[in-house]
Amino acid sequence: MLVSATEMINKAHEGHYAIGAFNINNLEWTKAILAAAEEAKSPVMLGVSEGAAKYMCGFKTVAAMVKEVHDAMGITVPVALHLDHGSYDGAKAAIEAGFTSVMFDGSHYAFEENLEKSKEMIELAHSKGLSIECEVGGIGGEEDGVVSAGELADPQECKTIAELGVDFLAAGIGNIHGKYPADWKGLSFDRLEEIQAVTNGKPLVLHGGSGIPADQIAKAISLGVSKINVNTELQLEFAAATRKYIEAGKDNEGKGYDPRKLLKPGAEAITAKVISMMKEFGSFGKA
Ligand code: G3H
Ligand code: ZN
Repeated sequence: MLVSATEMINKAHEGHYAIGAFNINNLEWTKAILAAAEEAKSPVMLGVSEGAAKYMCGFKTVAAMVKEVHDAMGITVPVALHLDHGSYDGAKAAIEAGFTSVMFDGSHYAFEENLEKSKEMIELAHSKGLSIECEVGGIGGEEDGVVSAGELADPQECKTIAELGVDFLAAGIGNIHGKYPADWKGLSFDRLEEIQAVTNGKPLVLHGGSGIPADQIAKAISLGVSKINVNTELQLEFAAATRKYIEAGKDNEGKGYDPRKLLKPGAEAITAKVISMMKEFGSFGKA
């Protein structure tokens, strides 16, 4: 059974480690990440952006696929199916479709509107027993065609949203989506500390978890980050392993062009990367 993420995130926050929220795109991604979580004995969140959900024929298809795959694989570790960067309508649709956790991202609205909509979404998600994440301050970079400027979230705004009872809070601390540029200044630990203090120890979410140096990840976790979102890094791993297989001519050997063989190296690369990130985040062995 898929679960809400509340318990796994609260345990991570208390235990000073973080849960990885890894984005899925299809069946291969789903199987590869679930296999990693089971092998690592780690709780996991499967993140689904609205774009990825559309690609997979909608929230209902995704929810049905993930539930069936989870059961068929005999997964025993806690797994939450989480909407990533959900819109107002998208979050409602994902809740309806059977997701067990949602993010409502109202960071592009004026703060008052974000507050009002976040309040409504928190009440709705909690009334169905789901966990919910909201966002204050845009995360830089690009995701699904939505470009937001990187910024440091306003601690007072974080406090106000945290007091609505959100389960975990995404706040910009200099993190960005996609590949980090060579001149990236790094995470702002001063701002992270400030946000953690004014939100009274609310579990915080670090978006843009691909390519952040290990020492910064460790420090962010020590200062209250309990969920780390990773998408780009798994795409890079998948692409590199697939390219290697094709360039080595493996797709021409035997029946190497069979999609089940062609997609295997990429899927194995995802599994290996997720396990190593679970070690880095400290969730390894925590299920
Ligand atoms: O919401 C998803 C993420 O924040 C992933 O960011 O693609 O930079 O790993 P990333
Ligand atoms: Zn994100």
